[in-house]
Amino acid sequence: MRLFFALWPDADTKSKLAGVAAKMRLADRSRLVPAENYHLTLAFIGEVPGSRLPALLKIGATQRAARLRISFDATEYWARSQVVVAAAQKTSAELFALWEQLHKDLALPEQPNRHAHVTLARKVAQAPVLQAMSPVTWSTNSFGLYRSDTSGVQAAYTVVDTWPLLDET
Ligand code: 2AM
Repeated sequence: MRLFFALWPDADTKSKLAGVAAKMRLADRSRLVPAENYHLTLAFIGEVPGSRLPALLKIGATQRAARLRISFDATEYWARSQVVVAAAQKTSAELFALWEQLHKDLALPEQPNRHAHVTLARKVAQAPVLQAMSPVTWSTNSFGLYRSDTSGVQAAYTVVDTWPLLDET
């Protein structure tokens, strides 16, 4: 199974980000990500055998991370991965801490690009003209372990488990 830790937006954040995506003018072959698939990847684990699941669930359950407030304030085209993302130009200390702890517990290398983002469109082969966006602020009080099935045209994600983010750590 292909697994990753992520934050999933609430309905309001999802619809605001979908509003931003709807205004983008992308070439025909680009693929808008359906709003129900929006997520912020915290740690990408990749393909693992089911036998690793208990250890991964334990890692999720033992995190002691604070609630997060993320302000997405720019759309960016990332040519290398051919995506357009909604990005947070400032990353909070709380988000860095959760990122770091998960990578440490999973024994994953630190991600060089730790720019909080939600991917809005994929397969964007040419740099689109992107307009400034009004900030979308997302307050989240949980994170989760998700499974991705990439066999279809659009990835299908299912929640494996979620855990609360805390008022105080
Ligand atoms: P992203 O779109 O937020 O960058 C689930 O598969 C998610 O994990 C993807 O949406 C992508 O997040 C991220 N992901 C997929 N493949 C990856 C890889 N090889 N390395 C790092 N992150 C990856």
